[in-house]
Amino acid sequence: MSGTAPFTVAIDGPAASGKGTISRRVAAHFGFAHLDTGLLYRAVGRKVLEGTEPVDAARGLRAEDLEAPGLRSAEVGQAASKVAAIPEVRGALTDFQVAFARRAGGAVLDGRDIGTVICPEAEVKLFVTASDEVRAHRRFLELKDGGADVTETGVLDDLRARDARDSARATAPLRPAEDAVTLDTTGMSIDEAVAAAIALVEAARL
Ligand code: CDP
Repeated sequence: MSGTAPFTVAIDGPAASGKGTISRRVAAHFGFAHLDTGLLYRAVGRKVLEGTEPVDAARGLRAEDLEAPGLRSAEVGQAASKVAAIPEVRGALTDFQVAFARRAGGAVLDGRDIGTVICPEAEVKLFVTASDEVRAHRRFLELKDGGADVTETGVLDDLRARDARDSARATAPLRPAEDAVTLDTTGMSIDEAVAAAIALVEAARL
């Protein structure tokens, strides 16, 4: 692969499956750019909680909105999952993601529809999963570390509600692309999951 050719790694999966950490570390390993597309939907969801109309919020999204406080909260996550079901909201965020995916020098994008809608031609497609309980436990620790007042059952209910909404929507539902490799991280440490993802990218670069 030449240093400037597009090379896209699409990493999709349900809430708190580990795709964010895997994506960041794969991008750092190969020197690729990384885009957490969930952050786009979270930033729109946050603006909607503040009273902006969803499609206006998506069309008016600015880079600094991705650094707003509280984007990782469960409340903003639910708002994100609701706005993400609106086709016009998704449409307003598409061009930026497509361009990012094919930028020169390689890109890792994580989300729900990267391998199916944003970049069906991605050189590597991963679908990262883990059991509901393991995902809830990881997210519970993460939120608690950040000082949030949460319970593990509350987090589990939150993830299940979002996954159900994300899977059932008509536009760009959460599902693996036909040619995606599924990585079930239930019994894996994060280092093992990252190593498996790096090996898949290495194989595709040969
Ligand atoms: O980090 P976590 O897996 O909990 O969620 P996220 O990736 O930050 O995504 C938040 C919400 O945005 C999801 O529940 C989806 O509804 C939506 N989303 C989407 O529809 N499409 C994407 N490509 C990324 C996120």
